[in-house]
Amino acid sequence: MSKRWNVYVTREIPKPALDLLAQHCDMEVNPEDRVLTREELLEKVKGRDGVLCLLTDTIDAEVLDAAKGAVIFANYAVGFNNIDVQAATERGILITNTPGVLTETTADMAWALLFAVARRVVESDKYNRAGKFKGWGPLHFLGQEVTGKTLGVVGGGRIGTSFARKAKGFDMTILYTDVAPNPEFEAQTGGKFVDMETLLKEADFVSLHVPLMPETKHLIGEKELKMMKKSAILINTSRGPVVDELALVKALKEGEIWGAGLDVYEWEPEMAPGLAELDNVVVCPHIASATYETRTKMGMMAVENLLAGLRGEVPPNCLNPEVLKK
Ligand code: GLV
Ligand code: GLV
Repeated sequence: MSKRWNVYVTREIPKPALDLLAQHCDMEVNPEDRVLTREELLEKVKGRDGVLCLLTDTIDAEVLDAAKGAVIFANYAVGFNNIDVQAATERGILITNTPGVLTETTADMAWALLFAVARRVVESDKYNRAGKFKGWGPLHFLGQEVTGKTLGVVGGGRIGTSFARKAKGFDMTILYTDVAPNPEFEAQTGGKFVDMETLLKEADFVSLHVPLMPETKHLIGEKELKMMKKSAILINTSRGPVVDELALVKALKEGEIWGAGLDVYEWEPEMAPGLAELDNVVVCPHIASATYETRTKMGMMAVENLLAGLRGEVPPNCLNPEVLKK
């Protein structure tokens, strides 16, 4: 029998993943359906061999030091801006994420938001529930046509590619931008690589699919919003700080752009003042990967990463494999 590792899970994840973990580890799971406080996190990681953490947990040098002796932190997310990977590498701690399994799901959600905003689904649903629907009207809830328009994809990675590929049925012109062209994006979508300014000026719908890094913070700010068409819609399913949210509220209020569909926020879970009062924005609570199927796959992947790290192997989705080469 191999040793039973001591593992902490910062919040309950789907059962199949916890069952797999329990076969190999003595584990403790945060019993409450909320994010741990900083103090709790610092306390709970002590003495563990590994930790399964979430995008809502800030894993910085202090937490990594508190977890002295741990060999791995497995993040239950593809985004890992919540983790100081360099600090982990310096301490010999492996970090993993869950890429791939949530690609299609997140891209689906970007489409759900695009349609919800373009066709005013949420706003008109509210109107109907409020008993205001007194009969069909030729000028009621006019929105933006989707078919035949120009799609602007910011970030041509896995999720951006999937999002653009799904546009095929809507006969769209596809533009994308990134730090470099991605032949795979072009092969799958027929999209054209352009610079950010061209994309913002020409696209009817701009969807963000970049990771949050110092270079992508406020990638979309006042200047970029002004470049967009007045009829344009901005979709963000990436990370909140990629958009200057105060500038976005202003642009939406002043009609610089027509609407926005957001799943993430700059000061998540808070929304910028005024955002929730606007009718031309659909605001979802960071649910882009939230399907039964995907959340289970993310759990299995995070657990498989965790177990591999505990066994001394390079985990399949390791962000700092150099740790094991030292
Ligand atoms: C979700 O936002 C993720 O990064 O997995
Ligand atoms: C994330 O999965 C991406 O590379 O788009």
